Amino acid sequence: MRVLVTGGAGFVGSHTVVSLIEAGHEPVVVDNFINSDRSVLGRIGKLTGNVPELHEADIRDKDAMTDIARTGFDACMHFAALKAVGESVEKPMLYYDNNVSGTISLVEALLEADVNSFVFSSSCTVYGEPETLPLDESMPIGTATNPYGWTKIMMEQVLRDVQLANPDWSVSLLRYFNPVGAHPSGLLGEDPVGTPNNLMPYVARVAAGILPKLQVFGDDYPTADGTGIRDYIHVVDLAEGHLAALARHAGDAGVHTYNLGTGQGHSVLELVRAYEEVSSRPVAYEITGRRPGDVAASWADVTMATEHLGWMTTRDLHEMCADSWNWQQKAR
Ligand code: UFG
Repeated sequence: MRVLVTGGAGFVGSHTVVSLIEAGHEPVVVDNFINSDRSVLGRIGKLTGNVPELHEADIRDKDAMTDIARTGFDACMHFAALKAVGESVEKPMLYYDNNVSGTISLVEALLEADVNSFVFSSSCTVYGEPETLPLDESMPIGTATNPYGWTKIMMEQVLRDVQLANPDWSVSLLRYFNPVGAHPSGLLGEDPVGTPNNLMPYVARVAAGILPKLQVFGDDYPTADGTGIRDYIHVVDLAEGHLAALARHAGDAGVHTYNLGTGQGHSVLELVRAYEEVSSRPVAYEITGRRPGDVAASWADVTMATEHLGWMTTRDLHEMCADSWNWQQKAR
């Protein structure tokens, strides 16, 4: 299949491009490189022997997206979005414009070009504060605590309404839990600009001696060791989940919503200990106050994805840490 991949140079997008090529598909990348690097395309080429076609464009540019979509696609995977929670609080309009307006112009271009298979990067953030765990797809969408979260809720709704008006559309809303790790080759990974906001890239830099110590945001949550629990998922498992969702679209119009996680939660301190083990480096930390907006615990019920997609994760926390450490150690 020829697949339009927005944000294909980003963290989850690039790993999915690799999986698509490995499965014999033809991904075409659209990226504006505001939060990714051009060298990713060459790295994908090195890994797969195939440098994907690239269009440097912003998804908000309706004319550019229409021209690209007209070149003919069987499906679209939509990763392009801004994702920093704190930044979204400071610059809400930037987030609504990039994420929501960008999705609207992309979808308009796809409608014009008659591309009706759409896989969307959603997030467990749409559930808001969990009332019960694990989280399953039938639970109501919650109240977001920041504009980033609201954009995910809004984009899901846009896609549900588009599918309702266009019953031949197949839409998968993939609600990611916490994507971490890197490609085992060490050629692709997450390389945040400046100080990382997320736990694993921060821990990686502490282990590497780049940052002095981790701030653990609270040890007074109602969890076994008091620190926050999340469902970390290896980015390669996540990429494979996208291919499984795409495969289910054939002859299966409608909106399909899947949690993509491992179904298992790990605390901040468990992750720190696993990272120390795989890196053989100490990870210094101090306990500080809770980070506003954080939930105590979040993990997925993955029954839907297992049963409908025949997909499940195979990489555990140690493998996530080991691949992250391998990536961290490669000079870039
Ligand atoms: N944490 C620390 N110190 C840090 C960073 C994080 O203790 O320096 C803790 C957090 O408090 C939390 C856990 O590590 O308990 C994971 O935090 P992340 O920032 O890695 O991930 P979040 O669960 O906060 O955020 C992720 C995505 C968001 C998404 C959210 C949905 O990064 O994009 O899940 O719940 F909105």
